[in-house]
Amino acid sequence: MDRLILFDTTLRDGEQSPGASMTREEKVRIARALERMHVDVIEAGFPIASPGDFEAVRAVAETVRESTVCGLARALQRDIDRAGEALQPAARARIHTFIATSPIHMERKLRMSPDQVVEQAVAAVKHARRYTDDVEFSPEDAGRSEVDFLCRIIEAVIDAGAGTINIPDTVGYSLPNQFGELIRTLIERVPNAHRAVFSVHCHNDLGLAVANSLSAVLNGARQVECTINGLGERAGNAALEEVVMAVKTRQDVFPCSVEHIDTTQIVPTSRLVASITGFAVQPNKAIVGANAFAHESGIHQDGVLKSRETYEIMRAEDVGWTANRIVLGKHSGRNAFRTRLRELGYEFASEEALNEAFARFKELADKKHEIYDEDLQALVTEASLDAVNERVRLVSMRVCSETGETPVARVTLLVDGEERQAEEAGSGPVDAAFRAIESIVQSGALLQLYSVNNITSGTDAQGEVTVRLEKGGRIVNGQGADTDIVIASAKAYVNALNKVLAGREREHPQLGDV
Ligand code: KIV
Ligand code: ZN
Repeated sequence: MDRLILFDTTLRDGEQSPGASMTREEKVRIARALERMHVDVIEAGFPIASPGDFEAVRAVAETVRESTVCGLARALQRDIDRAGEALQPAARARIHTFIATSPIHMERKLRMSPDQVVEQAVAAVKHARRYTDDVEFSPEDAGRSEVDFLCRIIEAVIDAGAGTINIPDTVGYSLPNQFGELIRTLIERVPNAHRAVFSVHCHNDLGLAVANSLSAVLNGARQVECTINGLGERAGNAALEEVVMAVKTRQDVFPCSVEHIDTTQIVPTSRLVASITGFAVQPNKAIVGANAFAHESGIHQDGVLKSRETYEIMRAEDVGWTANRIVLGKHSGRNAFRTRLRELGYEFASEEALNEAFARFKELADKKHEIYDEDLQALVTEASLDAVNERVRLVSMRVCSETGETPVARVTLLVDGEERQAEEAGSGPVDAAFRAIESIVQSGALLQLYSVNNITSGTDAQGEVTVRLEKGGRIVNGQGADTDIVIASAKAYVNALNKVLAGREREHPQLGDV
């Protein structure tokens, strides 16, 4: 049976969600998680878009060994050169080049004739082949392009050396039967179609991205482009977890398999992406939402207790829900700690990093007796965040909150090695803490998003906070976790400020000249 190629574009199209920009280190962490899941292709970014995106693609290319690493490029020589350069260290590299083919895009955006578009597409594919044998071509806005023109340009780019033809429904306009029909027609009518893999890339403007992608698979597509949690431009892209689980669960219908995907990595990866981007997953989201496997009605609960299959079509553990399994406690040793983290896919760079994370674990175990996998993941995330905590560090904080009184926070920070303190009042304890921190650092950054999620259940759970700051059109996300959510908030704010101060904020990829 054919293998369905999973092409993840969380780090490229996903990053185009306003506010979801990621630092190089964050992209590398997500890329590692995608590789653990055995995703076939990781689209790491758009190297020409900014120096930051170039560096991020390069860092992912240096790190990932199993999955193919892909860089996006318009059908322009300078874009392709930049992508080729960024991908140079990759074990397997793919260049994905695109040009719009719909009448409205060609006339109003590109101001080019169809002949010029074909010529440019062919030249781009030929140029990309100088860097790698693995070249993908996308006729942008294919969902609104004329079929005859699509057939013409696809035949030409396959002849020029494109091995993957990706059909994007760029504006999310297609309907499942229509999109499936389009894929089938292209495969039937393009004379050299057998020399390429047909792929689809669907946007979710009408909530149909997954349905359109699956319809395409039923009609011959063998690569699906998707993102974790359905992140992406506007309403997002097809959600990887939904595509994978639909194909896996309905093997009676699909003519291809996703057996190579380690589905138990889905929930941990979804959590990682949510925490890095600050885009929380809605509770009723399929597969990765907190309620996706929760049975509320008495009739359903009774049925599941008698036989799980009465109301469940998938097993929660198959997609990585661990049912809050207690893994470690305050008496666990360093070896057990390291071993469990290794099982979760984390390796420490040095003994020193291990010792530091282990000291944090002991602190946490004193406050919270049962430590779950999710707690460990947050802890390592925190440890890696310290790598950017070079200029500002939270030393201590005292917050007074009393009914009928204005909350006040006193914060002590270490700024460039010097201890500084401030006290501020606020409308709530978090507001007071943020004001105190800002009065010391004076960053001038604006708070765009503040979100808190509990990592596990129970009132002793750690709160995981994401803070998004904006300065001069540039955006950063900071994270922090603690059993005290006001402290978690202060840690997240400080983490975001460090990224602002270190210049790690990235311009939104679409704000550049691209
Ligand atoms: O939506 C789209 O058309 C894209 C292309 C670059 C594939 O993201
Ligand atoms: Zn897209």
